[in-house]
Amino acid sequence: MTQIGAHTERVRQRTHEGFLRHHGFRYAQIATGLCVAAVGVYFVTAARLHEPPSGGSWLGYTLGTISAGLIVWLAFLGVRKRVITEGHYSLKAWVSAHVYLGLSLVVLATLHTGFQFGWNIHTLAYALMMLVIASGALGIWAYATLPQRLHANRGEITRRQMLDALERLDAQLRDVAQPLDRAGAAVVRLSVEDTELGGGFLRRLTNNHGDDANQRALKALRNLPPPAGERQAEALAKIEELLRQKADVLSLARRQMQITAMLEGWLFIHIPATFALLAALTAHIVSVFAYW
Ligand code: HEM
Ligand code: HEM
Repeated sequence: MTQIGAHTERVRQRTHEGFLRHHGFRYAQIATGLCVAAVGVYFVTAARLHEPPSGGSWLGYTLGTISAGLIVWLAFLGVRKRVITEGHYSLKAWVSAHVYLGLSLVVLATLHTGFQFGWNIHTLAYALMMLVIASGALGIWAYATLPQRLHANRGEITRRQMLDALERLDAQLRDVAQPLDRAGAAVVRLSVEDTELGGGFLRRLTNNHGDDANQRALKALRNLPPPAGERQAEALAKIEELLRQKADVLSLARRQMQITAMLEGWLFIHIPATFALLAALTAHIVSVFAYW
């Protein structure tokens, strides 16, 4: 199985396990409790001080330390994922905790800032954190909806069957092209030799195949001079039908690849943004202590 195939398979299993509901929403309850407590303490302190507590107050330091600790722990999932163990500390529990405690940072870190934002390294760390969280939410949406879409798109046809169908159509195209003249044969070669099924990640993700060789072949077929005899005319008609069938299979397979790319795509933001966040957070903490 390819790496992408393996990832998609894991995703399917994980969705079935239902990590969001894990342990009767235990981690959702813990995260909510944490947020409610933080909001309560924050507003009571604000009322006492007659001003919102900033990042430099005792409450600011507490919330900042909790937030930074959570971020480091959340980032650790990448390591944890690769050491899968069953049992009490299952990966499912980790992902469940990751999602809900990750979301609680929106409240905890925002309260820590005392709502003071500017064009500085502190706000950069905050913005990167929000980017990591937003991409994580996108991942949850992807895991929850895309496996069904994959299934709905391809029906009962497997990936192998799609590839076999394309191979068969190419073989038929080569056969039918036998009686054609040079121009006609060139059209068939264009489709058989130059058609690219997938391509780079971005191409798969956007499903943009504007320069598709099979489509170009269909267009070139229509622009050919009128056929010389009946055999040629018959062959050209058959080729047009085969090219159209090939276009249908290509479109189905590419849509499948697009959905698979979407299942991976959010991680391309989530992981690099995590590293950037850890760097900016370190700079933030070092800089506040340097000014101290
Ligand atoms: C050990 C952890 C942390 C410590 C010790 C800490 C410390 C501080 C301090 C002392 C301030 C007040 C700075 C001032 O008033 O000029 C502050 C503000 C701030 N912190 Fe943190 N922080 C921590 C974690 C975090 C985290 C996790 C984030 C978000 C990802 C964050 C984002 C901010 C922002 C946006 C401000 C407001 C900056 C401003 O006043 O312009 N901090 N932090
Ligand atoms: C600042 C907060 C966060 C950090 C630093 C963080 C970091 C990470 C890291 C390092 C991974 C491992 C990726 C890998 O190696 O494959 C990961 C996975 C993941 N994160 Fe986050 N994350 C955060 C918040 C969130 C939030 C809020 C959500 C959901 C709303 C989320 C959803 C996920 C999911 C679904 C995975 C994949 C787990 C799996 O493959 O089973 N993350 N995260």
